[in-house]
Amino acid sequence: MEENKKIKELKESFIISLEKVENLKDLQELKIYYLGKKGPIKELRELLKKMEVFKRKDFGLRLNDLQQVIIDNLTKKEKDLEELELTKIIEEEKIDITLPKTKLEEGTIHPLTKTIQEIEEIFKSMGYDIVYGPEIESDLYNFEYLNVPKEHPARDMQDSFYITEDYLLRTQTSNAQIRIMLNNQEKTPIRALSPGKVYRRDNDDATHSHQFMQIEGLVVDKDISLAHLKGTLAYLVKRLFGEEREIRFRPSYFPFTEPSLEVDISCFKCGGKGCSICKNSGWIEVLGSGMIHPHVLKVGGYDPDIYTGFAFGLGVERIAMLKYGIFDIRDFYTNDLRFLKQFNKVEGGEEDES
Ligand code: DAH
Repeated sequence: MEENKKIKELKESFIISLEKVENLKDLQELKIYYLGKKGPIKELRELLKKMEVFKRKDFGLRLNDLQQVIIDNLTKKEKDLEELELTKIIEEEKIDITLPKTKLEEGTIHPLTKTIQEIEEIFKSMGYDIVYGPEIESDLYNFEYLNVPKEHPARDMQDSFYITEDYLLRTQTSNAQIRIMLNNQEKTPIRALSPGKVYRRDNDDATHSHQFMQIEGLVVDKDISLAHLKGTLAYLVKRLFGEEREIRFRPSYFPFTEPSLEVDISCFKCGGKGCSICKNSGWIEVLGSGMIHPHVLKVGGYDPDIYTGFAFGLGVERIAMLKYGIFDIRDFYTNDLRFLKQFNKVEGGEEDES
């Protein structure tokens, strides 16, 4: 029968076309073609309508069968293709955990920052507040209020960068002293530490830098004595340089302290016998300090008949140079990575060997 042959041929051509399909898009096209309004199935249905009645039943059944076969095959192929695509995606996006890692360059903590952090921790453990003074400062806070009027010889030792007649880059973190006292309006006792950069017109060499860092300490309370100053600084140097370190006071002069004292520590290299670090004296000079001058207390708003206090100022570079065995202050500022990376050791962490 002619019509049955058509069904057979259509089935065969469908199977061949289906086998060629490789993706979901082509499958969709095939589906539209065979089952669509203008497709071959539809065409045969039109034919069916025109058929003689006795042929219709048989042909109709065969046509339904064919349609079902097409639908079933399309559905199965669709499932197969979807699975295949998923497997492909999984395969492509697989992470190869055996690949070597890409190395991220890590920054390091600058040795001066490290030294400041270490000293801050020591003082925080004693209840000190960390406060910052401005780097651009008025002549009043940097000099006048600290007993250094214009023409005072102490100004010669701190040759300054003036910005205007009244403003300069601070030459010392001592500028924070008066600010801390004035800011404390309730006039309660003070325990403060103030680190930061300072500037002086120096020619840079192995021991001088026009920009360097200091840490200022300030304590104001009733009955503060030299013994408190000594105990505090002794504790500091033991924590910084080892339990066996001793300190010694030498009389000195700073306009804003009376008495003024310079502090030496027993040499951590030779233990006091004499070596190149301590220039054979057994002692190393580390900081300036003293009892706050009554006039400075008064400017800060504290009655010197009731309150006393001590202050100290240390050079961060000097401490770091001693601690890490650095001989040229310029190393801190030239940013040579080979130098900076030596301080890459994170305590309790992994060491970067690169
Ligand atoms: N500001 C002083 C300097 O730069 C260091 C100093 C000495 C600070 C004695 C103090 C101090 O607070 O009491 O040379």
